[in-house]
Amino acid sequence: MILHDEQAKLFTLHTRNTTYQMKVGQYGVLLHTYYGPRLRGGDLAYLIQYADRGFSPAPPEAGDGRTFSLDTVPQEYSASGVGDFRQPSIRAELADGSQVVDLRYAGCELRHGKYALDGMPAFYAGEGAADTLVIELEDPVSQLRVELLYGVLEEYDLITRAVRVVNGGSCSVRLLQVSSLCLDFQRADLDLIMFDGRHTMERCPSRAPLRPGVQGAGSVRGMSSHQHNPFVVLCEPGAGEDNGGCWGAMLLYSGGFQAEVERDQFDNSRLVMGIQPRQFCWTLEPGEAFTAPEAAMVYAHNGLTAMSRQLHRAIRERLIRPPQGGMRHPVLINSWEAAYYDFDTEKLVELARASAELGVDLFVLDDGWFGRRDSDRRGLGDWWVNEEKLPGGLEALAERIGELGMELGIWIEPEMVSEDSQLYRDHPDWVLAAPGRAPTRGRSQLVLDFSRKEVRDHIYESLRPVLSCPGLTYVKWDMNRSLTDVWSAALPPQRQGEVLHRYVLGVYELLERLRRDYSHILIEGCAGGGGRFDGGMLYYTPQIWCSDNTDAMDRLRIQYGTSFGYPACAVGAHVSAVPNEQTGRSVPLETRGVAAMSGTFGYEMDLGRCTEEEKEIVRRQIRAFRERRELLQTGDYYRLTSPFEAGPYTAWQQVSADRRQALVSVVTGAVRANAPFALLRLKGLDPDLDYRVNGGEELYPGDALMAAGYPLPSLPGDYQAFQLHLEAERG
Ligand code: DGJ
Repeated sequence: MILHDEQAKLFTLHTRNTTYQMKVGQYGVLLHTYYGPRLRGGDLAYLIQYADRGFSPAPPEAGDGRTFSLDTVPQEYSASGVGDFRQPSIRAELADGSQVVDLRYAGCELRHGKYALDGMPAFYAGEGAADTLVIELEDPVSQLRVELLYGVLEEYDLITRAVRVVNGGSCSVRLLQVSSLCLDFQRADLDLIMFDGRHTMERCPSRAPLRPGVQGAGSVRGMSSHQHNPFVVLCEPGAGEDNGGCWGAMLLYSGGFQAEVERDQFDNSRLVMGIQPRQFCWTLEPGEAFTAPEAAMVYAHNGLTAMSRQLHRAIRERLIRPPQGGMRHPVLINSWEAAYYDFDTEKLVELARASAELGVDLFVLDDGWFGRRDSDRRGLGDWWVNEEKLPGGLEALAERIGELGMELGIWIEPEMVSEDSQLYRDHPDWVLAAPGRAPTRGRSQLVLDFSRKEVRDHIYESLRPVLSCPGLTYVKWDMNRSLTDVWSAALPPQRQGEVLHRYVLGVYELLERLRRDYSHILIEGCAGGGGRFDGGMLYYTPQIWCSDNTDAMDRLRIQYGTSFGYPACAVGAHVSAVPNEQTGRSVPLETRGVAAMSGTFGYEMDLGRCTEEEKEIVRRQIRAFRERRELLQTGDYYRLTSPFEAGPYTAWQQVSADRRQALVSVVTGAVRANAPFALLRLKGLDPDLDYRVNGGEELYPGDALMAAGYPLPSLPGDYQAFQLHLEAERG
């Protein structure tokens, strides 16, 4: 619900459990008054205090007045060069060379339904399910207009934001920064949680109290990156999984981003999130507009679990789009770790046959099927089937796979090109490369200039025969290097700062085209695993390969960190062979299955090599996943313990919406002799119901399971796993 009190110039956004408020204050400055637990209403501007502070200047209209300073008041979207020395939300260079942008209230508009963003990802909701508020700010001198867009998804406790900048003046303007979100707090007693890592070890949470100054994370790699994630949490210092105020902010963007929090001199804090300003400069001619990507905010008064669940539900139901969003994720076998580049039709069919016999639905042919791609040094860009490996092409393979009762999936990496490829020989100027410099290689490949329509069109046309193959229902879209040498042959020198964002828009445009023209195909996102695991990609690719690290014990950490912002149904997770390719560790097959089941379950190994006993385990795993798919992928998610702490086990739990069913997964670490007994306290059950565990005779009261726990068996050996399936007694 959006309330606009015209007289008081007050905007109050209510969701079911939260309230967000802004007010047009003195001199038309848009102040931020509140974001937190739902309140009855009222004007919360009383919270803002004014004083004459040294070195905090006042706007010219204040005359002799010295108590109003942009340097000290909480604002909705911070300007630049006019007395606020904290993090700006927008920076621009005007035609006269000045970098001054002063923003004052100019008007507002309320609309039913949720705004959409042309060519960019955004949460969606029909009329009745969301409302939109547009607040217009204007720089009176340059006539640069800033439209702040707010989407209120009341039932989801979700508020989205986006920003549109219009050049209403008569001279061109160079935008140097346009952030999507600015959130001011009149407090500094907050912890910042970020999700950092590296290739094969993504999204490990780090938590620290705010210290004076600027802190944060960002990516300058042209992708959201393995190293940092465009999702951050600010929370009260004592906040835990079940207690404390938590504010989550997510940028729906797959390119470089910046997320920074500044704790200022007076113990206020400001979070600013948006496109990475480094290497960004966008020229706006008179009348032109620039739109910054969407950011989403959630608040939970009762801890991190509740905050995560709000995001999970909103992403599942209002970001991931049908039909793919509603599609049941197939149990798949991926050829990568089983075959790498070394295969032919017969080998693939054998892999598929062994998997089909055990109940797998979909065979995904990974890298190596096209051009002269027999290593990662060549072939990218030549999207025609290598008939030496696959005589009769994909159609023949799809037919053989179809005879086994399976569907076919295929790997592509459309954004990249190898120098040893026909595409590069024909179009060497299609790559990102600065004039006079040989471009940097990453995984021996170069980056195609996806900011150019003709490049995307060519890729689309060359992919069409592949995507049109009958029986093909799945595509894995990979991306295997960071962007460097950012320069486009299609743009003039003064517009080179637009390349990175135009690249991301190009990726979105091609993804949208594939979605539209091949709506029966489920697209999995991937960037060397989880290098582009973000809300932007989830709008186009309902699931994302979470990490190239398939070691189950490492995966517990990666999936734990990922779960703070993203739902299990988005997390690509497979069982792979042991010793693990990435770590050399051997983890029992049961355990690898339990870890992969908390994602979009599948296998990435030669199942034909399994012993009969192992095959039986695989059959059981697939049956269990099918039976519990709904619960695993859409159940309320509880992190029961953290794999980053030194406890004897890691546990998590999914609970059905009606709380009559739950699945508890437990994985032990290195075994300890004569270990203490363990009682695991469960969460989210109905205290008034009794539960049967794994179909056993005994009934356990829900209240006791939560207050006192369930006795865990002690298992011999390292890295053991088990699951407890709880069903409420019918009553
Ligand atoms: C990186 C991906 O994350 C892997 O799963 C695999 O598809 C390889 N690329 C193929 O080159």
